[in-house]
Amino acid sequence: MRVVSVMNQKGGAGKTTTAMNVAAAAAESSDVLLVDVDPQGSAAWWAGRAGDDLPFDFAQEINIANLAKLRALPYDLIIVDTPGSLEKTGVLKEVVKQSDFVILPSEPEALSFQPLLHTVETVIRPLGVDFRVLLNKLDPRVPGDEIDAQKLIDGLGLPRFRTGIHSYKVHTTAPLSGSVVTQYRPTRASFKAINDYRKVTVELFAIWANTPRNVGV
Ligand SMILES: Nc1ncnc2c1ncn2[C@@H]1O[C@H](COP(=O)(O)OP(=O)(O)OP(=O)(O)O)[C@@H](O)[C@H]1O
Ligand SMILES: [Mg+2]
Repeated sequence: MRVVSVMNQKGGAGKTTTAMNVAAAAAESSDVLLVDVDPQGSAAWWAGRAGDDLPFDFAQEINIANLAKLRALPYDLIIVDTPGSLEKTGVLKEVVKQSDFVILPSEPEALSFQPLLHTVETVIRPLGVDFRVLLNKLDPRVPGDEIDAQKLIDGLGLPRFRTGIHSYKVHTTAPLSGSVVTQYRPTRASFKAINDYRKVTVELFAIWANTPRNVGV
């Protein structure tokens, strides 16, 4: 079992969208639990809209001390959605201590990089947990957008997923309709949207094939 937290102190970077959709893609082959530790409760609201149609289990856990107990549950993967605030450094450190891996979704914009670097340098690197930046909201209509964004992240010296997540309108309406990416009505855009998250999940599993679990917790 692995615990993966989705983190970035930049608000609106796509943490909740990433957590829900990576959980959905992983749930195609694994038993997955999504835990929302953000008091804002966006993932909880989204899961509530989905109801019984959600393809993975869901829990809201604001008391971080209880996270350790979740490891005992019989899941293949636990994904943790976290709050996006610079004031939450202490809480985020407690989450990282319980994590085997951290996904950092980030928009491909210079103004996003300061909070992203803050999260990496203050919260994640001091605890030595493996992480990757996941580029989010890439423009699917601009072919060079992804390569330019990759260069920016590489220039910051941060490891990243080879796959990026593109921006599709359907992602913004999914919470209200209570659906996750694997349930989108089939269209050309939704096929690409599903493919993005499936590729990230495959990459995640491939990274783990070569990494021992966080046995320190
Ligand atoms: N790949 C994407 N394509 C289109 N819209 C997206 C994508 N990812 C995120 N969004 C939209 O961007 C907004 C912010 O996303 P989200 O709520 O997932 O970010 P967050 O990091 O969880 O925010 P917070 O810091 O408030 O928790 C939402 O409206 C969401 O629908
Ligand atoms: Mg969120």
